[in-house]
Amino acid sequence: MKRILLVNGPNLNLLGTREPEIYGSDTLKDVERLVIRVAKEYGIDVRAVQSNHEGELLDAIHEARHDCSAIIINPAGLTHTSVVLRDALAGVPLPFAEIHISNVFAREEFRHHSFLSPLAEFVITGAGIQGYEFAVRRIAGLLAR
Ligand code: DQA
Repeated sequence: MKRILLVNGPNLNLLGTREPEIYGSDTLKDVERLVIRVAKEYGIDVRAVQSNHEGELLDAIHEARHDCSAIIINPAGLTHTSVVLRDALAGVPLPFAEIHISNVFAREEFRHHSFLSPLAEFVITGAGIQGYEFAVRRIAGLLAR
């Protein structure tokens, strides 16, 4: 069975209560349930990871090379700062989708740059948590090719 690694970065454990005017009222559990439900439609399994610790995210990405076919990642603030996260994604031979719940381009300028986007299969920003659903459907299509 194919498997997607779903990675949510720092502070996304607070989804639902964190700046709801920007990120909405859905929780991380809601996001994970959505991804699992949609992936199941395609017979794809999901491993979900969230951490506030960069190294844990790196470890999960490294592990994924053994048993996953693709990665969906919302790198959160690490998007704009992390060379090591970029290097981890570059170091595993898996396609990845970069997701942002908010439209990062409509926000502060420091959010306009991503260390990851040039390596991503595709990027979805500003579609709310539906962005994760779009990502699963697109990845399922890519994996079916
Ligand atoms: C975010 C956007 C980032 O700029 C921010 O640091 C986050 C969440 C988003 O989902 O919109 O933590 O990745």
